[in-house]
Amino acid sequence: MRICRYATAEQACRAAALILASQVIRKPDCVLGLATGSTPIPTYKELIRLYEEGLLDFSQVTSFNLDEYIGIPEEHPCSYHRFMRENLFDHVNIRPEATHVPNGNAEDMAAAAGAYDRAILEAGGIDVQVLGIGRNGHIGFNEPDDSFVYGCHVVQLTKSTIEANKRFFASEDEVPRQAVSLGIGSIMNARCVLLIATGVDKAKAVRDAVYGEIDPSVQASILRTHPNVFFLLDEGAASLL
Ligand code: PGA
Repeated sequence: MRICRYATAEQACRAAALILASQVIRKPDCVLGLATGSTPIPTYKELIRLYEEGLLDFSQVTSFNLDEYIGIPEEHPCSYHRFMRENLFDHVNIRPEATHVPNGNAEDMAAAAGAYDRAILEAGGIDVQVLGIGRNGHIGFNEPDDSFVYGCHVVQLTKSTIEANKRFFASEDEVPRQAVSLGIGSIMNARCVLLIATGVDKAKAVRDAVYGEIDPSVQASILRTHPNVFFLLDEGAASLL
């Protein structure tokens, strides 16, 4: 595990963008695992900037997002489909059909989740997986639990996540109670994992993930067993290390 500390959030996010950019340059048909949330927005801005400068070509890239809310339309301002279009896909030359975000409105969620995992395998697996971390140590929407779930699955969001995400919605009541998320197995199968954490409110989750027991009550703790994982942290997120 590699812990990279930066003075500012901007630097931590740009470092993630540089790793992703080098992946796209070295393997133009790579598979990127992408995350939503406020943390990676500056990373995507930097990728867009590098694309506009002519340094990056996404035309052969495939992407799979980590998660999506269940029960809100893809066009909803808070859906992760929309987030990805607005924050990255609409600004680079990735082919829309090569981008994948879990379907939060499938009739048969279990079947759709299984198909999502199979699509990742068929694409050759994820080369670089971007992650944020929840205040409760979640990665994707893998919430604190008494087990690690391997495959893509439906999750009940915890109070802490609903509380954290209500800032994007008109009110807490509007935050969906369920989501579909890549499982820990699919995340751990990525060849490289970049966890970006910024801000002092992530410090405890980062400390528990780095120093605590490897335990599903802090889902990010399992990343310590990954052979190629980078924690890209600003001073706030690293302040308890
Ligand atoms: P945030 O979310 O980037 O909006 O803090 C991260 C997460 O919950 O995984």
